[in-house]
Amino acid sequence: MTQWQPVGSGDPRADNVVSVQNLERPASERLAGYAWDYVVGGAGKEQTLRDNPAAWARHGLRPHSMVDVSHLTTALALLGTPLAHPILVAPTATHVRYHPDGERETLRGATAAETVMALSAMGSTTATDFGADAAALATPWWMQVYLQHDRALSHVYLDKAVAAGASALVLTVDTPSLGARDRERREASGASVGVTYPNLDHLPAEPTGLPAHRRVWNPFYANDVTPSDITALVDRYHLPVLVKGVVRADDARRAVDAGAAAVIVSNHGARNLDTGAATADSLAPVVDAVGSAVPVLVDGGIRRGTDVATALCLGASAVLVGRPVIWGLTTYGAAGVQHVVELLRTELEMAMSLLGAPSIPDLTRDLLQRV
Ligand code: FNR
Ligand code: LAC
Repeated sequence: MTQWQPVGSGDPRADNVVSVQNLERPASERLAGYAWDYVVGGAGKEQTLRDNPAAWARHGLRPHSMVDVSHLTTALALLGTPLAHPILVAPTATHVRYHPDGERETLRGATAAETVMALSAMGSTTATDFGADAAALATPWWMQVYLQHDRALSHVYLDKAVAAGASALVLTVDTPSLGARDRERREASGASVGVTYPNLDHLPAEPTGLPAHRRVWNPFYANDVTPSDITALVDRYHLPVLVKGVVRADDARRAVDAGAAAVIVSNHGARNLDTGAATADSLAPVVDAVGSAVPVLVDGGIRRGTDVATALCLGASAVLVGRPVIWGLTTYGAAGVQHVVELLRTELEMAMSLLGAPSIPDLTRDLLQRV
């Protein structure tokens, strides 16, 4: 994408973008074709993709009335970092598909919205460049990790990310293989033209010799990641390691026992295994298993402030948002990213006031119809 212009007036507020979902259609029109299929798609019949957003509403809310909410605050501390609110930017690959400045533009929006973002290992920006921008903006950031089969190849870019100031690592553990993404596989020729992964450009080409329809593994993703990798990252980098892609209580315990500083309940935006449970339904058992030991974060289908409130009532410390941030970046650049996060934050404030829960610790399971 060389010529990039914002949609409409360039100001999502002036254009009456009143909910994050308002950005989906303009983003789809702009990215029509492979780039949109890559963003919007899920695995298999996309049952989990549909269920992720739907499941938040199934919990239902049971608000308190007659509570003084005049001093409402969404502030919290996460892994020792004070945050204005609990809505974070999930790591997503190759932002240059959506804006010529890629993740650097996303970072500007995230900073304006007072949040933290994770740079994807498959991002379009090197960790060194991203970290320099983040330092100039005085914004904390996290580095997402896809381990490679040869861990020394992973250390090459992780060493640079840590030197560039990443304050935590997000180890994604749900992708030994990509899922059966029909939309992407249909576009197998031409789909990745022009797409590069500058953090991983030192990886050797690994031709599989197999035709596309028989390929399972991808050289970007190690298929032998175990809890010992969490320990190894903690030992090597002495940074908090958040383990992303856990949906079971037993696995959450394995991650924490191995040194995880936090667990992120995620099914990868339903892009990998179809028919898996919605993350809204996986969250409570994980919180019950490890929530007293480490923060539990969650992502998947968060589109409304009530979704954020429900996640926090179930015991999440914070949520991450994937696709809506891409819609914002595609349509309005940094202003769009900022607007997406601010819309969710404002809706969360509305929900907290209407729930009679004026601070984050007041969001408890008692406010849910069912857990
Ligand atoms: C992702 N996700 C992802 N996760 C990760 O750990 N590393 C990555 O590089 C990517 N890349 C990526 C690309 C795109 C286009 C999407 C939509 C998602 C998953 C992401 O971090 C997050 O788990 C989901 O996007 C959350 O679901 P929602 O908010 O998109 O419904
Ligand atoms: C994806 C990988 C990059 O979901 O995480 O497309």
